[in-house]
Amino acid sequence: TQPLRLGIAGLGTVGTGVIKIVRQKANLLAARTGRPIEISAVSARNRDKDRGVPISGYAWEDDPVALATRDDVDVFVELMGGSDGPAKAATEAAIAAGKDVVTANKAMLAVHGQALAEAAEKAGHVIRFEAAVAGGIPVVKALTEGLAGNEITRVMGVMNGTCNYILTRMEDAGLPYEKVFAEADALGYLEADPNLDVGGIDAGHKLSLLAAIAFGTQVDFDAVELEGIQKLSIDDIRTAASLGYRIKLLGVAQMTGRGLEQRMSPCLVPADSPIGQLQGGTNMVVLEGDSVGQIVMRGAGAGEGPTASAVMSDIIEIARGTRLTTFGQPAAGLEKARPARATAP
Ligand code: NAP
Ligand code: HSE
Repeated sequence: TQPLRLGIAGLGTVGTGVIKIVRQKANLLAARTGRPIEISAVSARNRDKDRGVPISGYAWEDDPVALATRDDVDVFVELMGGSDGPAKAATEAAIAAGKDVVTANKAMLAVHGQALAEAAEKAGHVIRFEAAVAGGIPVVKALTEGLAGNEITRVMGVMNGTCNYILTRMEDAGLPYEKVFAEADALGYLEADPNLDVGGIDAGHKLSLLAAIAFGTQVDFDAVELEGIQKLSIDDIRTAASLGYRIKLLGVAQMTGRGLEQRMSPCLVPADSPIGQLQGGTNMVVLEGDSVGQIVMRGAGAGEGPTASAVMSDIIEIARGTRLTTFGQPAAGLEKARPARATAP
């Protein structure tokens, strides 16, 4: 049997998590896919850094583009991050070299996902991105596979764990935003650019990807109506609580008579509702389909294990030879949706 050979670019939280699973669960993965899954080569910025996992048995490439185009790589696993730069360059190179791509990079896909998916599918390949939305929650596969017989009517969710941590901590400890933001920073929860989290941008990226799958439209991050949590005060939180509500950074995507509505903004939710009860860094995604009704998925939206779990699910799909598209239908056939806000009265 031919092994599936991986080239992994990015050996941080997620990359090392993926290496651990490939090493520790080799037999289980081979049993589930019918073929060995192997790592051929890896890449990161610093070759000498101790990664907590042995990497000396894998070929090393300083340049992610060189890694992505190696002959002994079948699947390029992009775990560096960043919407442009090396992540995009290496993903494009992998596609041009005829590789499948697995990525956790919502920032890249929200901006370039349509073009990358079209290029990959034209070449008979695919980009899979389960880990890019809601970490360990298998929401992309729920939409592209489990609910593929439904017309999706609405997608909602809390998709940024850092914001949910900040909001629940303000509520539980009665602390002001600035203090909890500093705590989140000290705990290492914030993205290198914190505005991606607290400005709602990271969650907006995720929502735009889910909306594309749910409604069969092109990814349109620019049309997401975004508002972050930076201006929320402890008084806002207290007032909401006194009325029986909590404030969550909630994403909603739905097709309306005016067009596709995509909103990511602080919302009042009943304190005793499933979303209102969501604590700490957890994520929750609510999917509504015409046949299935409502499905609620809750779990870890970040972290080594949960995110690597999602990356592995994509690698496993590819190893099984499942016939896949990036967004659940051919990317070239996706139409650009009319944004609801553009024509709103
Ligand atoms: P991270 O810990 O910061 O690791 C990034 C890795 O990429 C590092 O190993 C770094 O190398 C490498 N890298 C950065 N720039 C590079 C370059 N120019 N050339 C080669 N290697 C480069 O990031 P992470 O948390 O694992 O996140 C990776 C991706 O997963 C991102 O797209 C992120 O948004 C996504 N994601 C992360 C989580 C999470 O919980 N962490 C959850 C969902 C999605 P050095 O180690 O040598 O510096
Ligand atoms: N910054 C993101 C979050 C990481 O807090 O949810 C996972 O995508």
